[in-house]
Formats: sequence, C-alpha cells, structure tokens
Amino acid sequence: MVPATPANITRAAKILRDGGLVAFPTETVYGLGAHALDPVAVRTIFAAKQRPAWDPLIVHVTGIEMARRLADHLPPRFHELATAFWPGPLTLIVPRAPHVPDEVTAGRPTIALRQPRHPVAAALLTAAQLPIAAPSANQFGRPSPTRAEHVAADLGNRVDMILDGGPTELGLESTILDLTQNPPVILRPGAIPREQLDHAPLAGPVADEHVTAPGMTLKHYAPHARVELFETETDLRARARQLPGAGILIPTAATLFAQLRDLDERGVPVILALLPPPTGLGLAVRDRLTRAAATGTLPPP
Ligand code: TXA
Ligand code: MG
Repeated sequence: MVPATPANITRAAKILRDGGLVAFPTETVYGLGAHALDPVAVRTIFAAKQRPAWDPLIVHVTGIEMARRLADHLPPRFHELATAFWPGPLTLIVPRAPHVPDEVTAGRPTIALRQPRHPVAAALLTAAQLPIAAPSANQFGRPSPTRAEHVAADLGNRVDMILDGGPTELGLESTILDLTQNPPVILRPGAIPREQLDHAPLAGPVADEHVTAPGMTLKHYAPHARVELFETETDLRARARQLPGAGILIPTAATLFAQLRDLDERGVPVILALLPPPTGLGLAVRDRLTRAAATGTLPPP
C-alpha cells in the first residue's frame, strides 16, 4: 500500500503497461486494474479476485474518444449521457469493438465503459494512456472496498501496487445503464440516482447470470451472518430486543460496505438492517442489502 503521489502514479502506469495489477481509488469504490487490451493481464484480475470467468469487467477510459475506439458503434443516447455524467459514476453498456479481448467481456458482444472522476483514477488513466479493466478490488463475494485497507485485507500480495487515496467519496458502485436496449435499462442501480436517468426501467434480478444480465444474480455479497431486513426503525428495534446478540445496521450510502465488513469482523450471528426508501441512493442501498440477505448459492466459476 503506497500513498497516491504523482511519482507512485507514474510507477503504477508502468506496472499496468507491463501487464501488472494496480488497485486504485475511484469516486465509488477501489478498483483492481489491468491493461484492458492485454488478455493475459486481464486473466490475472480474475485469478487475484477468485472471480468467475463469466462475470465481465468494466473498462475505465480517459473519455469519449477512448470509448469510441473500444465500441463497435456508439448508440444514439451515448453522447448525451456521457457528456452529462462523465467523468463520473455512470457505466454505459455499448456494442464492443472486435479487438477487445473476450476475457474482458466474458465473450459478450457488449462492453461496459466508464470515465471515473476521482483525481487519482484520472491521473492514472492519463499517465498510462490505456483503457483499464477494473472490477471492484474485493475478493469475490466480499463487500466492495471503500478504503485501501480493505483491498490489502482481501487481495494483499496478489496485487503489484495498491494506491492509497483515502476513503472513497460515494461508497457505492457506479450505476450500469444498458444502451443496447431501447429504452436503456438499468442493470445495476448505483451512485447515479435513477431519477437523473429519466427513471429508466430496472432489469429484474435473475437466477442465472451466465445467460442474462451479469451482476444481477440475487445472491452477490454473502455475509457469514443471516441478514433480516426492516422497512421501519420501530420494527427493527422491536426485533433487536428479541435478539440481544444481533448486529444493527442503519446504513448510509457512503459507509454501507464498511459497515458490513465491520459486522462480519465482529462475527455477529444475525444482522438486522434498515432499508432506506427506494429513492435517490436509497435504491442502490436497498439493492445491495437485498442481495446480502438473499439465500441461495452463487453460480460456480
Ligand atoms: O463503480 C464501479 O462500477 C466500480 C469501480 C471500480 O469502477 N467497478 C465495479 O466493477 O463495480 P464490478 O466488476 O465489481 O462490477 C461490474 C459489473 C458486474 O456486475 C458485471 O457483471 C457488469 O458490471 N458488466 C460488465 N460488463 C458488462 C456487460 N458487457 N454487460 C452487462 N453487464 C456487464
Ligand atoms: Mg464488484
């Protein structure tokens, strides 16, 4: 773990160009980056995270020009949305260019693109002059990392460099909008509220993400504890009186994942979580909590 100084960002860019792995802060969560056009480097992301190969990656770009070179063509709404929300936490799904490795897209005909606005992520992209494939820098099945310490705890020596830029500002992943459907569909609610996207329809959760929308399997992050969800704090407090050993989770968008990590570390048998209203960032918080509470198993790697 090193501070995100200009000298370390320059070293990180060289590591990426040479096919290595760099964890870096974005405004949402920390990402685990590799050269997106180097299939061997991209495979090391999957190995380090123990991420199943069917789950495609988001590619981080320096802007619309780089996005154009990774896309087969840019759908009609692309310009308007990228101009309005980039750099920022909106990931756009577009048809992919033929030279994008199958490892990045898990063999899909589409690619997920976003230009992050965190100054360290932006500086790294500028220094590397490469598209950077980067999922969240957690071990698969753990909450996304919002601090460099979370990355070190999950991935430690499986990464060539962890750039420490302090806690992330938003704490929830980007909103993923599929522009290959008309009208566009939200595949994952996230840090850009649905209200700002003309209330785009939400894709329903699916049981098998091999065949439909990845990232939408019901069970994603799986805490050791059983999770019970509550719509009101009164109901939650009543249940807490019945279960004195339970962990209480009153989430805020920016700290949700850190709160879940803390509760996991305390080893509580049950987590009682308050669901926020499904508006603004509350929609994404509800989505992540619902997945944490879901029973059922993850599809195999
Ligand atoms: O905020 C974020 O989006 C963070 C930071 C690092 O940028 N990244 C992130 O990546 O959350 P990850 O891999 O944890 O989640 C990316 C999601 C996955 O659920 C994946 O299935 C979906 O994006 N995805 C990637 N490519 C896709 C595609 N071509 N079609 C549909 N979904 C895709
Ligand atoms: Mg993730």
